[in-house]
Amino acid sequence: MLTQAIKGVKDVLPEDSVKWRHLEGVVRKLFSDYGFSEIRTPIIEHTILFARSIGATSDIVEKEMYAFKDQGGDEITLRPEGTAGVVRAYVEHKLFASRSVTKVYYMGPMFRRERPQAGRLRQFHQIGVEALGVSEPGIDVDILAALVELFSRLKVQGVELHINSLGCRDCRAAYKIALKNFLTGKIDSLCPDCQRRVETNPLRALDCKSEHCEAATADAPMMLEYLDSDCRAHFESVKQGLDDLGIRYVINPRMVRGLDYYTRTTFEMIAVDKKGAQNAVAAGGRYDSLVEEIGGPPTPGIGFAIGVERLLLMLPEAGDSAPLPKVYIAAIGGEAARFGQKLADALRKCGISAERDYSPGGLRNQMKKADRSGAAYTVIIGEDEMTKGAAILRDMKTREQSEVKLDEMVEEIKKRVAAFSTDANNEHGTRFL
Ligand code: HAM
Repeated sequence: MLTQAIKGVKDVLPEDSVKWRHLEGVVRKLFSDYGFSEIRTPIIEHTILFARSIGATSDIVEKEMYAFKDQGGDEITLRPEGTAGVVRAYVEHKLFASRSVTKVYYMGPMFRRERPQAGRLRQFHQIGVEALGVSEPGIDVDILAALVELFSRLKVQGVELHINSLGCRDCRAAYKIALKNFLTGKIDSLCPDCQRRVETNPLRALDCKSEHCEAATADAPMMLEYLDSDCRAHFESVKQGLDDLGIRYVINPRMVRGLDYYTRTTFEMIAVDKKGAQNAVAAGGRYDSLVEEIGGPPTPGIGFAIGVERLLLMLPEAGDSAPLPKVYIAAIGGEAARFGQKLADALRKCGISAERDYSPGGLRNQMKKADRSGAAYTVIIGEDEMTKGAAILRDMKTREQSEVKLDEMVEEIKKRVAAFSTDANNEHGTRFL
């Protein structure tokens, strides 16, 4: 217990955090290009916020929330997703009063007590955006374009954009009746969960992964056939906008989403080589009634969230961990070690990461450690070098060695390392300016 993390939660170890930072860097730049500013909302919210927004009969609210009473008796929940908190903050701080459109993004941990398996965690991370205040389909297209561009900038392949429309409250009500009637006629072929859902949340039966339910609902009526004229026109404009931008998509009429707040456009970015419930790397849609539902003025909204852990599994290896131009200091002998400490300090103050051996062994041993550290340069310094006033600077890649005066060492290393900072795409490089 003491030395084991809770089931379904994961440490991000130092070697992995390089990927996280890379992803966060790309995402921040992209969201700024598309006009989103960052918002940070609390990890805990009142339980009622999630029940009201995600839906009391959704799997998340029924089975998966980390909900508890705190010492003061308040009902609190660890957020299972980011949209509800953003919408709550939007209403609480009256963000609608100062601007007609609010475009925000967020990154952070979310909590769902699901059965842990590959791609499914109990603490996972989302990167999401929300745009509030625009009902026109142009924003749907912008949001989808940002999502597709993100995958492109990250060079992630093997994903497919699936879109659907869930209509508005009015046309969905008519559809729900038709679907309920259809499912009632198939009730014996449905799994126990879906038998219950026929009454509480019939749309979810279309999303069930049980073979029996898939077969039983193969010719079920679809929401797309029930869209009213406004919802149909909206969906047509979204498709037209995607076509105009050359964005490819699949219309997936069975995609119903697991959160109840959606209206009209919904979408998922699907990993094509993965089967089952864990194949959605990102998902989102419109929620035109949600702001009003939690007590704000009628305001349309749309957004998406990416599952960070799922996305990281798909990031190509190359370029993830650009070599850090680190310096390793191999010092032999007491006086050299003291110089090594001062040199490391001077380099770090210039923003150059430097490492050394705290209990130095022989030269061979230290060179092995220098190799393993991934350092770009090693400074080799022993008693002789101290006497001479010059140490050896070794380029670890080319294996070239040169003698550099001790009092010129910092400047020489700065010069060599500066080459890394000229590469604008190398996020590590900027640390060496
Ligand atoms: P969601 O579909 O529940 O939507 O989650 C979005 C993404 O989070 C999923 O596609 C998946 O990649 C990731 N995810 C969800 N659950 C887990 C889990 N247990 N382990 C690992 N990854 C997971 C939402 O959360 C909505 N708030 C998205 C949204 C924003 N809609 C409008 N705005």
